Amino acid sequence: MELKNDLLLRAARGEKTERTPVWVMRQAGRILKEYREVRGRLSGFIELVQTPDLAAEVTIQPVDILGVDAAIIFSDILVIPEAMGLPYVMEEGTGPIFPKTIQSRADLDRLKVADEDSLGYVTEAIKVTKRELNGRVPLIGFAGAPWTIFCYMVEGKGSKTFSLARKMLYTHPDFAHTLLDKIADSTINYLKSQITAGADIVQVFDSWAGILPAVQYEQFSLKYISKIADAITEVPVIVFAKGAYASRKSIGKVNCNVVGLDWNMGIQESKALIGADKTLQGNLDPATLYADFNKIKLATRKMIDQFGKDKHIANLGHGVYPDIDPDKVKCFIDEVKEYSSRN
Ligand code: CP3
Repeated sequence: MELKNDLLLRAARGEKTERTPVWVMRQAGRILKEYREVRGRLSGFIELVQTPDLAAEVTIQPVDILGVDAAIIFSDILVIPEAMGLPYVMEEGTGPIFPKTIQSRADLDRLKVADEDSLGYVTEAIKVTKRELNGRVPLIGFAGAPWTIFCYMVEGKGSKTFSLARKMLYTHPDFAHTLLDKIADSTINYLKSQITAGADIVQVFDSWAGILPAVQYEQFSLKYISKIADAITEVPVIVFAKGAYASRKSIGKVNCNVVGLDWNMGIQESKALIGADKTLQGNLDPATLYADFNKIKLATRKMIDQFGKDKHIANLGHGVYPDIDPDKVKCFIDEVKEYSSRN
């Protein structure tokens, strides 16, 4: 189906656009009362992720309510471990927990490589979403980077340091590589199934990139992100590696179209390190949206000026915080559209 608004895809491919496209990481869920209303009808987050009609509904809410230039499928990065045989639960107020974790060779051997059919509820949600979007905006598919998924599979829950996961890189590096490769192969199959179902572009989230020193980051994370980016040839690929300051030059060499910047990555410096052939995405400090409307507009203009007109997808530098007023998010989105449309 022909897209009525394909700004995001054109910007991702490095083509000229009439204005800068904009979307917001974690735009589905988190901030909208309309989301909480749908979520309240069910037993919890996981049931919502696994109910395609409702997952599609909350995926489309930010398009209708906030006016973003893309939808991102409502799911989670942790569906991949589940498809490999390691289910998670979402604990109210705490976040994700894995009752079983990966510690031994036997645990690792029990894991399967997720095949293209193992996450049918996500691909079904993508099909429903595409039908209901009816070409209004592109749909973003996504997955976690193998390193970030590894962190949860080894640690079993969120952590400030992920020291169990990091310990494994020093004590059992071969074991770590085997697990990372299995996750990468699962992720390739999973992203391909999302693309077959209708995803127009995919993003790889490396939320825990910033906890590794550069040498380890390249060996244990970027290697597998590269494997994924090389395998996905059908649609543009966005790589968002939060905190990977020291590896920006190497990220610039990955076979992806777009590199996401977090809010501490200097824009000019990142452009020089990453190189002119990539489109950049980002990177307003998410906390800016606590400021008053006028300050948000000024910060947004400054960001647009620094990135320049072309090869930029406007976004925050990480996911929107749950207690942000949706009107402030809308102010950011409207200002990107308005300001970047002027000549
Ligand atoms: O962008 C979107 O809105 C699409 C949906 C999406 C979710 N999670 C839904 C979700 C996406 C893209 C994610 C990615 C994700 N999940 C990441 C990478 C991005 C990032 O923010 O760094 C990570 C690390 C996770 C793991 C995860 N899932 C955590 C740590 C938590 C708990 C805290 C939180 O972020 O809300 C989740 C739960 C989760 N995933 C919720 C939503 C809407 C909240 C669950 C609820 O409604 O109760």
